[in-house]
Amino acid sequence: MQYKFIMSKKFYITTPIYYVNDKPHIGHSYTTTIADILARYHRMKGEKVLFLTGTDENSQKNVEAAEKSGEKNIKKYLDKIAAIWQETWDSFGISNDDFIRTTEKRHIVAVNKFFETVWKKKDIYEGSYEGWYCAGCEAFKKESDLVNGLCPDHKKAPEKIKENNLFFRVTKYRDALLEFIGKNPEFIQPKSRRNEVVNFIRDYMEDFSITRENASCGIPVPKIAKYKKNASLYVWFDALLNYVSAIGYGKNPAKFKKFWPADLHLVGKDIIKFHCAYWPAMLMSAGLPLPKKVFAHGFFTINGEKISKSLGNAIDPLEVSKKFGIDAIRYFLIREIRLGEDGDFSFERLNERYNNELANELGNLISRVLAMTEKYFDGKTPKKAPARLFYAWKEYDEDMENLRLNEALEKIWQIVREANRIIDSERPWELAKINQKRLAEVIYVLLETFRHLAWMLYPIMPGTAEKIWEGLGIAKSEKKITYKQARKWGGLKQGTKVKKGEALFPRL
Ligand code: MSP
Repeated sequence: MQYKFIMSKKFYITTPIYYVNDKPHIGHSYTTTIADILARYHRMKGEKVLFLTGTDENSQKNVEAAEKSGEKNIKKYLDKIAAIWQETWDSFGISNDDFIRTTEKRHIVAVNKFFETVWKKKDIYEGSYEGWYCAGCEAFKKESDLVNGLCPDHKKAPEKIKENNLFFRVTKYRDALLEFIGKNPEFIQPKSRRNEVVNFIRDYMEDFSITRENASCGIPVPKIAKYKKNASLYVWFDALLNYVSAIGYGKNPAKFKKFWPADLHLVGKDIIKFHCAYWPAMLMSAGLPLPKKVFAHGFFTINGEKISKSLGNAIDPLEVSKKFGIDAIRYFLIREIRLGEDGDFSFERLNERYNNELANELGNLISRVLAMTEKYFDGKTPKKAPARLFYAWKEYDEDMENLRLNEALEKIWQIVREANRIIDSERPWELAKINQKRLAEVIYVLLETFRHLAWMLYPIMPGTAEKIWEGLGIAKSEKKITYKQARKWGGLKQGTKVKKGEALFPRL
């Protein structure tokens, strides 16, 4: 007899770790929300998901922000702001499994171990460097990167720095990187970003310094280097390592083996070079496998303007969600901006989509049908009637797997609109007078369709999905079934008592 073990797949997904020089704004919640949607989708499919986010705390920017805020004790400042990030994600319903702070011991242990490995590989050497450093980017800039002498992202003139530093021999991995990218077309997504990275690696990439002198923060250079006492590690070199330190690199080999390599690093397009060139080279140097995919999403503006503190438009995600609800914001971010492209967050569009799509097309649909079930069937689900949603599921899965989230929503909305059309053409209020059998069929098909819709919506709008299941009277049992069972037509049992609760999306 042959035994077959069916192991559940793992899915390790990460967001960038955010600087704690300020609290989160809606741009940061964009990245985090997308990661949350994908984490929920993979959990829903029964996979063992690890969803990681966290804070990047060893940056000079944070120290400056602490000083500005009047807090002299930097640790106190970091604890306070890191807690705000954690609380924001909790209140925003983000389902991260772990939260890493780069000032934690587990991270520092991993960084030391990693440095030692790369040191022994002779990939670190001493050299000197002179260049333009942008504190906002925490990176050296080439003259050709500047626009009128300013960093195009931070609109500030970088500082001329000349230092003796330790360098990472990234150029040793140039060919290997190009070969890897060539052989793994899925690695850099969307496709349109691949050329940008390949050009950088091929034509511009130079060994980069991984230490800073006299910095008032940062992880001390590991002892093995016997390097200057006043030097610390360059913040990006330490920050990228969060992805392995959080899963026990250098400490918990079993956990590390279980989750590494990451299945997806989700990042903004501003930091693609770090994730698709430096990071993979660092991993090659340490003899570790490379992540399976890096997806860079676009940036968005607010009412056409770049998000910035000085413009006063750095919207707090919790503030907007007070008016519209978290799910409406999640819906809007995904529906309005095609993943990978830039877009605009406008309150006018948000209002429009809220009223037309959420309140009218979805919210009204559900409450009308629940009301009809109460009126015509005493609130009890009528006898099962046949229909199929097989192809819709197939397309939905393909979209979700391939990160076409706005297209998945588009497909879901086709079902919503079709359900509305069924009501318009079947006119249940007239059927009630002349054809009870047909009426029962129509109502069953609509209710069962809602059960499916809730599953499809769950990763994107978890609160709404729960409310729909509640309305259908199946809130508890629905969580116990597998994804495969959920997708079968006819899950809703005859006689199940429905309940028309409050409106899903109350009129504003
Ligand atoms: N600390 C580094 C990342 C280290 S990862 C090893 C960093 N932090 S950050 O706080 O500046 O956050 C950058 C990320 O926030 C971007 O890559 C992007 O994911 C997100 N966004 C910040 N502003 C944004 C918009 N306006 N629009 C979309 N995403 C935005 O860089």
